[in-house]
Amino acid sequence: MSDALSYPRMELTVGDITQLKVEAIVNAANSSLLGGGGVDGAIHRAAGPRLLAHNRTLGGCPTGEARITPAFDLEARGVKHIIHTVGPVWGTDPRADGRERLGYRLEDNQLGQCYQACLELAAAHGARTLAFPGISTGVYGFPKERAAQIAVGHVRAFLGRSPVPETVVFCCFSEEDAEIYRRFLTPKDYSQSIQIGRKPS
Ligand code: APR
Repeated sequence: MSDALSYPRMELTVGDITQLKVEAIVNAANSSLLGGGGVDGAIHRAAGPRLLAHNRTLGGCPTGEARITPAFDLEARGVKHIIHTVGPVWGTDPRADGRERLGYRLEDNQLGQCYQACLELAAAHGARTLAFPGISTGVYGFPKERAAQIAVGHVRAFLGRSPVPETVVFCCFSEEDAEIYRRFLTPKDYSQSIQIGRKPS
């Protein structure tokens, strides 16, 4: 069940991305595009062997880019596209010393490129609904909070200038992960008066 959130056109859900009723799902792949574990394994299992056969013809995908394929066996569930993207492996910035602010690491920019590339492909193919897993936050070790902030920021900016996708779903694999996203999907309420000086009696 998706949360009703403060930002229209963005939804949050907890579960298996291959079960969602959306037009396009994003796969957190590796550069070979020939499958793996985690969400990559789940999507290849759900889409069936034709996906692997198709991906063998693609010649791989560099980090930060995305490739769109048919959904094969997932089409029975109404999924039309799978968008495979290759996220960064955390800790691969040779110059990083661990104190960088958001956006100042190579991995931040590569992860942002993944979200951007997936959104552009979804829009170009008219996908009205698009679901993202937490790209790079599993095997690739990207800190979840930092990744969620990058994800929500890029999706919000893209939706602000494009009518398609109409809705983006952040599909978390645990309630803990969803709690992280919820913090970035619920704008802070600065309307409360701020008490300055003595507390009211
Ligand atoms: N549905 C939704 N989310 C899932 C699912 C699923 N079925 N399975 C795993 N996840 C979540 C994980 O909990 C994590 O938060 O997806 C996120 C991404 O984790 P990984 O799948 O490990 O992907 P990533 O960290 O990007 O590493 C990619 O792992 O599986 C291999 O072939 C893949 O080499 C590539 C690497």
